[in-house]
Amino acid sequence: MAEKKRIDEPTGTETVGHEWDGIEELDTPLPRWWLWTFYITIVWALIYTILFPAWPMVERATAGVLGWSSHGELNKELAAADAKLLPIREAIGRMPVENIPNDPKLLQAAVAGGQSTFKVYCVQCHGSGAAGGKGYPNLNDDDWLWGGDINAIHYTIEHGIRNPDHDATRLSMMPAFGRDGILTPAQISNVVSYVQLISGQGKASKATASGAQIFAENCVSCHGTEGKGDRAQGAPNLTDAIWLYGGDRDTLIATVTNSRQGVMPRWGNRLDPATVKMLATYVHSLGGGEATVVAAAEPAPVAGGAENVAP
Ligand code: HEC
Ligand code: HEC
Repeated sequence: MAEKKRIDEPTGTETVGHEWDGIEELDTPLPRWWLWTFYITIVWALIYTILFPAWPMVERATAGVLGWSSHGELNKELAAADAKLLPIREAIGRMPVENIPNDPKLLQAAVAGGQSTFKVYCVQCHGSGAAGGKGYPNLNDDDWLWGGDINAIHYTIEHGIRNPDHDATRLSMMPAFGRDGILTPAQISNVVSYVQLISGQGKASKATASGAQIFAENCVSCHGTEGKGDRAQGAPNLTDAIWLYGGDRDTLIATVTNSRQGVMPRWGNRLDPATVKMLATYVHSLGGGEATVVAAAEPAPVAGGAENVAP
């Protein structure tokens, strides 16, 4: 192909010198404005990569001399949000937990705060709607193992359940009647028939009569004479249709044979007192919350939330 650069007459522009079947290409220079914009973008990109995090390195990108980061920006926003909440958190920290439901503004803030904390720390066991699952109680209903007034709920959350290294934890241990040889398999079968009878499954029979006797001798100390449970010991009501582990015969036999000891971590050492109160307020608000019992079996919380107030 011939290289024939020449000036194109009608336009006065030089050609690039290529020709295809008589068609030539003009070597039109780039418009000035375009060229300058192009240079400016290059300079801008260089400055940008110096100021802001940019070049990917092995571990992370270059930091940029301004020290800006999207992470830092997020932290700033979070800190601002925290600062806005601080007075409310302090007010919640000062107020005895049973008084929070009487203060509409604090109640609203505590329920909202409790709900978002619940999503972080509690859903893995209790489920996103707090509806629980096998071994993990539903927190929406009014069937409480350890008590449903706000002080009881607060105590449970603060101290946990069967926490091995904490003296104030909720504690009670149902014996493993079969594994430890307290009852024979036949006796377990009968007492399970009795449990099925009082929970509305099955009819009275010889087995349930014998089971009633075994129940009276082995179970009433925790589950009560009528089998309605005892919150002081976390012993569930066995006469309702709500089961923590299951009400079918096989599960009941397994429960009585090996016992069950659900464990919940304590949160009083991991979350600050205001957050624990917010969680209690949230759980209490879910639908099963009960009015505060005056002179509850629980030691009453120290007035004013002593953890936060200087003497
Ligand atoms: C590791 C699993 C686990 C996590 C996480 C957990 N729980 Fe629990 N929770 C349990 C178990 C198991 C029980 C039932 C224990 C028992 O059998 O007595 C329970 C019981 C409770 C009870 C008592 C219910 C009743 O009927 O008396 C409350 C209230 C409660 N949890 C609240 C919370 C809150 C609030 C959080 C988050 C801060 C939380 N739990 C996180 C496992 C967990
Ligand atoms: C020392 C107290 C204690 C005694 C005695 C006891 N239980 Fe329990 N029982 C409990 C506790 C506490 C739980 C709850 C365990 C948990 O939450 O993990 C429980 C749970 C159960 C459950 C599971 C209920 C459900 O909702 O899934 C059954 C069934 C049961 N007990 C039957 C019996 C029978 C039958 C006896 C007598 C043979 C008996 N228990 C004796 C304390 C006791």
